[in-house]
Amino acid sequence: TKKLLLDCDPGIDDALAIGLAHGIPDLELVGLTTVGGNVELEHTTDNALRLVDFYGMDVQVARGAGRPLVREPKTAADVHGATGLGGAVLPEARSALVDAHAADFIIDTLAAAPGEISLAAVGPLTNIALALRKEPRIAEWAAEFVIMGGSYTRGNTTPAAEFNVHADPEAAAVVFGGAWRTVMIGLDLTHQARATAQVRSRFAGLGRLEAELLTPCLDFYGEHDGSHGRGPAIHDACAVAYVANPALVRTAPARVDVEVHGTFTAGMTVTDFGGAPNADVATELDVPAFWDLFDDAYRRVAEQ
Ligand code: BDR
Ligand code: CA
Repeated sequence: TKKLLLDCDPGIDDALAIGLAHGIPDLELVGLTTVGGNVELEHTTDNALRLVDFYGMDVQVARGAGRPLVREPKTAADVHGATGLGGAVLPEARSALVDAHAADFIIDTLAAAPGEISLAAVGPLTNIALALRKEPRIAEWAAEFVIMGGSYTRGNTTPAAEFNVHADPEAAAVVFGGAWRTVMIGLDLTHQARATAQVRSRFAGLGRLEAELLTPCLDFYGEHDGSHGRGPAIHDACAVAYVANPALVRTAPARVDVEVHGTFTAGMTVTDFGGAPNADVATELDVPAFWDLFDDAYRRVAEQ
């Protein structure tokens, strides 16, 4: 069983990534940390707690940074809805937060089990940068470090930049400079993971998971993310899928540097496949196997 610590900003695709992690039998989610991103920290944290209850999970949740290291916060409520879960309204949370900042929770969790826990981040990289600055050894302690973020072709927030990196480029620059090999699951990969009508037809029979979460989330997401009927890309779930089964994702080593000065290019992940590598960059997804994993995991969650 692989252990996963997930930093997130739920967020529709974050919500689906959390359910995926919970439903994969040989993956153990050892903690969730929240960051401001898709919506304000207050909502991403509340959503994380509600999702834990809704999915029936037993996992600690720690709240992290409400704003980027340097810049003003920018949300994506136009894509994820005012509270972050599109049209889904989950029951109020009964679970409570742990009494630690996400950065400390990340440090303490990894320190307690060096080499055993995969760290994945699917929101702006503020918490990870804070943790790395406070305790650089987390780069040794994490079994691997995976992000959903960046791209080597085009952005989605600007022509140059993907949302998670654009939201806090200085944090992303710290993270790519850490003494680990960042696995960059960027838009080039995640745009292959589209919840098409055909994919969605497989969710029938998932009961309240489908009716109360998947449908209201995906209907909203598909109408607001610019996918124009092709089906929304379930970005963050690709990072979880990679941790569960790296064979689903083809990667190539590359040097990735984050643009922090550009007027038009801030948050661009400048990717040199010929440079001295600090990253493994995802290029190709096994799409049928990805949706099989997803479907199977959600079936397990529905049955429990
Ligand atoms: C990323 O940005 C957010 O909107 C999504 O949750 C995902 O993490 C995609 O660019
Ligand atoms: Ca996210």
